[in-house]
Amino acid sequence: MEKAKYIWMDGKLTLWDEANVHVLTHTLHYGNGVFEGTRAYQTKEGLAIFRLQDHTKRLLNSAKITMIKSPYSQKELENAQIELLKSNDFKSNVYIRPLIYLGYGVMGLYHINAPVNVAIAAWEWGSYLGDEGLQNGIRVKISSFTRNSVKSTMGKAKAAANYLNSQMAKFEAIDCGYEEALLLDDEGFVAEGSGECFFIVRDGVLITPPNDNSLESITQDTVLKLANDFDIPVERRRITRDEVFIADEAFFTGTAAELTPVKEVDARVIGDGKRGEMTKKLQDAYFDVVYGRNEKYKHLLTYI
Ligand SMILES: Cc1ncc(COP(=O)(O)O)c(C=O)c1O
Repeated sequence: MEKAKYIWMDGKLTLWDEANVHVLTHTLHYGNGVFEGTRAYQTKEGLAIFRLQDHTKRLLNSAKITMIKSPYSQKELENAQIELLKSNDFKSNVYIRPLIYLGYGVMGLYHINAPVNVAIAAWEWGSYLGDEGLQNGIRVKISSFTRNSVKSTMGKAKAAANYLNSQMAKFEAIDCGYEEALLLDDEGFVAEGSGECFFIVRDGVLITPPNDNSLESITQDTVLKLANDFDIPVERRRITRDEVFIADEAFFTGTAAELTPVKEVDARVIGDGKRGEMTKKLQDAYFDVVYGRNEKYKHLLTYI
């Protein structure tokens, strides 16, 4: 990770190396903390955060779900992210990581009396699944881990605790020689990747599962808007693993992963084993949006 100059901590710009916490920080032990992953792109008109308001809203919704009282409002958190990007001299694309966490002072599971802290870090970050992956697609393993069940966890919250499941699935996929994991829900239908939502294309129809077992992905929403602009027929319905195997195209969407084609799933080649036509069309359109080249969606960018 590229170090930046400052991290925003509880209202103060703090030097990167001094942005530390106590070892008895509550979230570190019990996993109740909520975070976001937001990107800022170097556009022709300078650095711009993509869908800042939506990411910040989801951060506050995550806090609400997990019973954490944010000390900062939506507007204050948005301004903090802008201030942080202004104070760091970024030359390339940036990933922003706001975190609302339970701090030092209370131990034990009952968390309501723990102090609430907020940190926002940002650093220069390229493509998450590699430039080669964006171009030619990645190899994916269906995970042996079931996606967190809605019966016992709350996947609409981007909560740290939810990511043990993602982390183990990701490790397993890489350990088996793949690049990413695809997790099924507890009924065996496709849920999502370890940090992405999932789409397939069959006979010209774009299909993605409803968000009943996945994060409400902002990238997925953007791609669905673009599909609508192109008059691509869309179905939001459950997908089984065998339907993935016989799809014409498949891809992941996420802020980090952007729009990454999937070329192989569990030794089955998807389509003709490279980035599909519709995938490329939507990927190009997505990059036009985030780089401010599509007038219709310029309002989704916050210029720094
Ligand atoms: C589990 C999970 N699903 C899906 C996504 C994609 O969400 P978004 O497009 O809002 O980044 C992410 C990334 O934040 C994620 O962590």
